Amino acid sequence: MNAGTTTDWREKELAQWYNKNMRGSLEGYAALFGFDKNDDVLDLGCGDGTLLAMAAQKGARVTGVDISDAQLDNARAALKGAQNARLIKSTLQEVNFADNSFTKVSIRKAIHHLTNDEKGQLIDKIHHWLKPGGILIIEDMILTFALHRRDENRPLVEKDAAVYYGANWPAFRDAFYTTMYQELPCDLAQLSHHLLFTGFHILKIVSPACFMSTVIAEK
Ligand SMILES: C[S@@+](CC[C@H](N)C(=O)[O-])C[C@H]1O[C@@H](n2cnc3c(N)ncnc32)[C@H](O)[C@@H]1O
Repeated sequence: MNAGTTTDWREKELAQWYNKNMRGSLEGYAALFGFDKNDDVLDLGCGDGTLLAMAAQKGARVTGVDISDAQLDNARAALKGAQNARLIKSTLQEVNFADNSFTKVSIRKAIHHLTNDEKGQLIDKIHHWLKPGGILIIEDMILTFALHRRDENRPLVEKDAAVYYGANWPAFRDAFYTTMYQELPCDLAQLSHHLLFTGFHILKIVSPACFMSTVIAEK
């Protein structure tokens, strides 16, 4: 099976392939949050629960949401023995929480599954779910150039991807371009639009490649 050409996350093989090959280390990403025992953490599209387990280890209360039974099984195993952990099977479009429920929210490599309108609606909801001063971090295929310029920027993408993925780039290329053309990536302007019009303050944007950004925003 070429896992890179399907995006059906209910397939166990896709989850296994992604977690093993493409998830990458979450140490640096987790450090951006600085989790501690006072945190209520929400991970949307939590995958195999690695980030939730890191937050739980610091004493945080954690909630994970994912659509995939295979990923939720992995997350359950990662959170075994953790206090105050819950996992919810839901789409990101449908899930809902009470206002002021969380101090920190993550959406890592999952927001590209939502249309532009759905992204805006979810960010609106997260603004309600976060406590004042709460932090939202989104990491994904968030382009530093306009989305409609994907084709003309392909040489730059290829150059950056060879550096970003290193020796793995040839093996990842199919999956990468599936995400870029058949899923729903956005550009920094689109994402900033949603964040700013919802009332978030954008604290920092880091783009290690022209196709990948981490956006840190505060309520
Ligand atoms: C690329 S993985 C990222 C997982 C994890 N956040 C990470 O960084 O490793 C995308 C995850 O989003 C989930 N997902 C995809 N579409 C979804 C949706 N509409 N609602 C909820 N979860 C979704 C998938 O099941 C998968 O676990």
